[in-house]
Amino acid sequence: MGDVIVADNLVKRFTTKKRVGLFRSYSEIVEALRGVSFRVRDKEIVGLLGPNGAGKTTTIKILSTLLLPDSGSATVYGYDVVREAQKVRKVIGIMLSVEKGFYGRLTGRENLIYFGSLYGMEKQELEKRVDFLLELVGLKELGGSDRLYEEYSLGMKARLALARALLKDPPVLLLDEPTLGLDPPSARRIRGLVRELASSEGKAVLYTSHNMFEVELVCDRVVLINKGVIVADGTPDELKSMLPNIRTLELHLKKVPEGLVDEIRSFGLEVREPLQTPEGLYVLKVLARKPEEVVDDILRAAVSRGVDVVRLKIEEPTLEDVFVYFTDRGVKD
Ligand SMILES: Nc1ncnc2c1ncn2[C@@H]1O[C@H](COP(=O)(O)OP(=O)(O)OP(=O)(O)O)[C@@H](O)[C@H]1O
Ligand SMILES: [Mg+2]
Repeated sequence: MGDVIVADNLVKRFTTKKRVGLFRSYSEIVEALRGVSFRVRDKEIVGLLGPNGAGKTTTIKILSTLLLPDSGSATVYGYDVVREAQKVRKVIGIMLSVEKGFYGRLTGRENLIYFGSLYGMEKQELEKRVDFLLELVGLKELGGSDRLYEEYSLGMKARLALARALLKDPPVLLLDEPTLGLDPPSARRIRGLVRELASSEGKAVLYTSHNMFEVELVCDRVVLINKGVIVADGTPDELKSMLPNIRTLELHLKKVPEGLVDEIRSFGLEVREPLQTPEGLYVLKVLARKPEEVVDDILRAAVSRGVDVVRLKIEEPTLEDVFVYFTDRGVKD
């Protein structure tokens, strides 16, 4: 199977009541998705990345049949999310908000057994699967398997939510901010598991997050969404190479002599205003497509003014630069 998730021109509007004054309110239409299209292939982990309110959760909810699109279509594992919702539900594991839907007075193990029987899983097979999953997500080692859910920490809740998503061993995982608020070991555990599930079991994963570092670690491809519109789609490296000035040359100087910044700008380069470090050095950032081709000219300009260059480094762009670049470029409201 090639494309496991296909979203084609999805549109979703919400009608909300906006209150003006004590007794008056009027209806307002929020366009959460304005024609969203993307794909997730077999064994692929795709990160859906975007600022607050961009439409990530709405997309995940439509794909998991919890919301109906107003127009457009989507298939998961070949099944249409509107016409074949039942079939879609059988092939997906979802992790929406980490905390939703569990029973506080049941233990983690009992919660999983409860959901497994709802899914119609046979008792013996279910008990084995639950035991395996409690081990896999690390709840056993945290002593969480047989503790009441209401006593769980956030990290334990997230692990249980992932275990629930995996109960039926679904080929497709839809994970909405699975590591939100988790400490580094818990986040690392979840990231590692997701990678493992994709690479060794061939699961397709759609993963939302605000954490750029994490998306870069986990995802094979990134789909950037802003105000309900897809603004970029590619591997992190592909997206970085689309930035106009893609690398930063950073010079640490004892002082910034007059005329230096202007001379560097006259080479056609973008120079940020110098910043002073706590040690009293000045940091000058020069943006360039090929810094190695201009570094000699820049050094000559500095040395000819008698200034010491204490440190020089070339920095690759981060996914955060990509995010800022693509989300800043105007998508109309
Ligand atoms: N049930 C709803 N009723 C009205 N508006 C909604 C509803 N759900 C979402 N929205 C609006 O739709 C837009 C997209 O919301 P969505 O939750 O998909 O964003 P998101 O990308 O998941 O954001 P975040 O990063 O904050 O989780 C927002 O403007 C939001 O206010
Ligand atoms: Mg969201």
